[in-house]
Amino acid sequence: MRIALGTDHGGIRLKQDIKSVIEKLGHVVVDVGCDCSDAVDYPDYALPVCEQVISGEVDRGILVCGTGIGMSIAANKVPGIRCALVHDTFSAKATREHNDTNVLALGERVIGPGLACEIVKEWLVTEFSGEERHVNRVNKIKLIEDRYLQG
Ligand code: RB5
Repeated sequence: MRIALGTDHGGIRLKQDIKSVIEKLGHVVVDVGCDCSDAVDYPDYALPVCEQVISGEVDRGILVCGTGIGMSIAANKVPGIRCALVHDTFSAKATREHNDTNVLALGERVIGPGLACEIVKEWLVTEFSGEERHVNRVNKIKLIEDRYLQG
């Protein structure tokens, strides 16, 4: 898979660890920045990751900021993005199986690098269950998007 990776300054220290996990699993990282520890605005990095997921340039996206909250809020504004902010491995697996999430958000200031890497691994290897009840629920999320996109 191709995985777009975006962080703000609050997530930059986790970037190399996450890149290594993705690459060890045989996937390709598309790094959209940021590249230095100067303060930047997380929506500027959430958007290119989400746009690449929606356009199909990449298969999934991973976003890191200090808490993961700003990134996840911004990502979920993009129609078609289902982003989960995850800080435990149970949720990492469940959100792929149940919600078919295409973007993962993490908070570098919330968890350590070891757990973050385990979460990324679990999220990347887990497939959507495809079970009818989960498909129906994801479709209902799409209906909510359609309703508000139509105005
Ligand atoms: C940056 O200081 C911080 O606000 C950001 O990384 C993130 O936690 C926002 O949700």
